[in-house]
Amino acid sequence: MRVLAIGVATLDIINRVSSFPVEDDEIRAQAHEVRRGGNAANTLVVLSQLGYRCSWGGTLADDLDKQVILDDLARYQIDSRACRCYRQGKNPTSYVILSQATGSRTIVHYRDIPEYQANDFLSINLAEFDWIHFEGRNVHETLKMLQSIKRSNPHRPISLEMEKPREDLESLLPWPDVLLFSKVYAESHGHRDPTGLFAAVRPSNPQAILVCAWGDKGAWLLQPEGSMIHAPAYHPEQIIDTLGAGDVFNAAIIDGLLQGRAAAVALDDAVHLAGIKCGRRGLDGLAGQ
Ligand code: FRU
Repeated sequence: MRVLAIGVATLDIINRVSSFPVEDDEIRAQAHEVRRGGNAANTLVVLSQLGYRCSWGGTLADDLDKQVILDDLARYQIDSRACRCYRQGKNPTSYVILSQATGSRTIVHYRDIPEYQANDFLSINLAEFDWIHFEGRNVHETLKMLQSIKRSNPHRPISLEMEKPREDLESLLPWPDVLLFSKVYAESHGHRDPTGLFAAVRPSNPQAILVCAWGDKGAWLLQPEGSMIHAPAYHPEQIIDTLGAGDVFNAAIIDGLLQGRAAAVALDDAVHLAGIKCGRRGLDGLAGQ
């Protein structure tokens, strides 16, 4: 089966520290790593390990890091022919502090190239894909892409990640079949749990499966017919690296639903795989876990 994801691929510059520094501090990192990241790209890397043929649409700049990013995607057989490359600018780069004391991952992100446009998306043959996943960003262009799928391939399942609050982001809510919310998104809208979030969102899209991961409380899923499912968090023995755990969770939800598993099973598996990921470095070796 084939999955297309539209979103970001980044260069992640990661420093692991024993505890998060205070402002104006000077500390030593215990480990340092440069990895390819980005939500959509990370989700595809997991799906590729689970056996899907994956394609990525996003933008890159023509600097030295471009090849690092493309080579890593190629390592997972991810097709990046739909990538739009800009001659000028810097590739999206995240400067990440991983704190061993708390497991937190603090990200300072820099980007100066344009996001993927609906015009770039026209080159993709959507009929080839069994599932199309979007990041909730670049709202006006993403809306055009969602609408064009619904016009040309109305039965193609679409998922949308609602990770951070963004202006007009809610205009995207009516279109996807699966909405993947984060705790950060829910809290930024004043919700203290997924129940409140789901109640607020439901009128905008009565047909969608609503999913929300809530850190160590686990995750919730609301089915279109109204039943709510909860999966408790899976705690690895030791938290090693939480960077990308949400992207792993999203991949596992997509996998579960594409395989026709019951929603409760898909949710349990997703929480489990995201927990496993937190107990290991990077995104390798997640198949069969
Ligand atoms: C993790 C991640 C990183 C990336 C950042 C982008 O979820 O995708 O790999 O740098 O988020 O916001």
